[in-house]
Amino acid sequence: MAGLEMFDAPEFIEESIQQMKATIDDVAIIACSGGVDSTVAAVIANKAVGNLLHCVYVDTGFMRKNETEEIEAMLAEQGINLITVKAADRYFEALKGVTEPEHKRKVIGELFIRIFEDEQKKCGAKYLVQGTIAPDWIESGGGVRDTIKSHHNVGGLPEDMTLEVVEPLRELYKDEVREIARELNIVVAERQPFPGPGLAVRTLGELTPERVEVVREACAIVEEEFEAGAAAGEMELPWQYFAALLPVRSVGVHGDVRAYGETVVVRAVRSMDGMSARYSEIPHSILQKISTRITNTVKGAVNRVVYDITHKPPGTIEWE
Ligand code: XMP
Repeated sequence: MAGLEMFDAPEFIEESIQQMKATIDDVAIIACSGGVDSTVAAVIANKAVGNLLHCVYVDTGFMRKNETEEIEAMLAEQGINLITVKAADRYFEALKGVTEPEHKRKVIGELFIRIFEDEQKKCGAKYLVQGTIAPDWIESGGGVRDTIKSHHNVGGLPEDMTLEVVEPLRELYKDEVREIARELNIVVAERQPFPGPGLAVRTLGELTPERVEVVREACAIVEEEFEAGAAAGEMELPWQYFAALLPVRSVGVHGDVRAYGETVVVRAVRSMDGMSARYSEIPHSILQKISTRITNTVKGAVNRVVYDITHKPPGTIEWE
């Protein structure tokens, strides 16, 4: 499709709408995660065949602070008819005792498909619109490379799938999708990337609502402090920045009492496309504020905060 240096977002949008109008003649379903890719695909599909489109958002319980409410408001503003499935209880139940990263991703992916299939049966969709972009199928080992991590939005579609798949963004890279998002006034456009399985891959070890809540709070603190630091000109905003909860407990003191608490790692990287990355150098004053806030506000569960100084490679950006 469009070459990088001559990419014309308005033209791409218009062509996609026309193509979808010509292809989709029956009920279509799309899963929207609130991320830029699926939102752009949903908005384009809505413009093309809005009356036939069922847009499903699955609240897994692994979203960032206030994210579900923000996604619902953003899609409503675009005029999209959204079906929210509250599924946190089902996810925690399915993930009981699961700690191995790839196993975790598999369980999350499979449950997502099951929930989605139920929704598809309810509306009788014939078409499946997906926001797949080029790096999704390249990095998920489209026959050429090894699977590095099984990316949530590609792996695991059932083999007996009878839906016809429509992928309007399949040939595009992230910067092109962001350009389209800006053109369509989608607010999510400038947000940092967020993995499909969400905070589940930032909660190492056992997944419990309490541990995920710690990660949610810690991620919110990292975002607030980095964004404030960048706005004040004290640092450059990294490409991606977050916190993860490690399966490591250590001894500390809480008041006068010995505590055996958990460990949060702060991760921040510079990158172009996520394929490789350099860890970001962050002023110690900002790291210190983050450490104090996390250990003070996250209800005594965390007594140690560390900063990750690993590039990709050899590390990946996420910890799982
Ligand atoms: P890694 O950890 O592999 O991540 O260095 C590279 C980029 O991809 C994001 N990521 C995902 N995105 N589904 C996604 O859509 C996933 O399953 C997934 N896992 C990781 C990660 O946040 C980083 O930006």
